[in-house]
Amino acid sequence: MDLDKLIQDRIRDVSDYPKPGVLFKDITPLLADHVAFAGVVDTVVNHYGRGTVDKIVGIEARGFILAAPVAYHMGAGFVPVRKKGKLPAATYEQNYDLEYGTETIEMHTDAFAPGDRVLIVDDVLATGGTACAAAELVRRGGGEVVGLSVLMELGFLNGRDKLDGLDVHALVTV
Ligand code: PRP
Ligand code: MG
Repeated sequence: MDLDKLIQDRIRDVSDYPKPGVLFKDITPLLADHVAFAGVVDTVVNHYGRGTVDKIVGIEARGFILAAPVAYHMGAGFVPVRKKGKLPAATYEQNYDLEYGTETIEMHTDAFAPGDRVLIVDDVLATGGTACAAAELVRRGGGEVVGLSVLMELGFLNGRDKLDGLDVHALVTV
C-alpha cells in the first residue's frame, strides 16, 4: 500500500462525535501504526528540510503528538502552545472563537530568540481559529512563522482564509 493510501486508511471516521451530526476524524489508528506514524513525520521533515527552522511549535493537545517527533528529526527545538493556565512562567495569551464561546491559548514569553524561524504543527486545520491564534503568539514572541504543517485540512471550512497567506502544508485534505 502506498503511503498516502495508508495514511488515509488509518484515519477513522466516527459519526456523531463529539455531538450529533458531526463526523469526527480520529487519528488514533494512524498513531498506532508505526509505518503510518513514521511516514507522516518523515513526509513533514522532507517537505521543509532538516535544519531549516529553529523551533517547532506544537499546539496542545493533539498537535504535541506530531510536533515533538517532527522537532527531533528537523533538528529544531520544541515549544508548547498550551490551553490557558498550564504554563508556569510568564506568558502571552491569545483568544480565539469556538463554535460556542471562546478558548484561550498561551505561550511562554521567552520561548524564542529574536528572529527564530518557527514552524507550527497541529493535527487538523478546521476553521483556522487555533492556528491563527498560535501564529499570533509566535509573532508576539518575536518569532518568524515560516509555515503551518497539519496532518489533515478540512477544506470545506476554509480555515486557510483566516491565515493571511501563511504557507500551509497538509498531508490529507478532506
Ligand atoms: C482541535 C484540533 C486542532 C483544532 C482545529 O483541537 O486538534 O487543534 O481543533 O480547529 P480549528 O481550526 O477550528 O481551530 P481541540 O482544541 O479540539 O482539541 P485537542 O486538545 O484534542 O487538540
Ligand atoms: Mg488541537
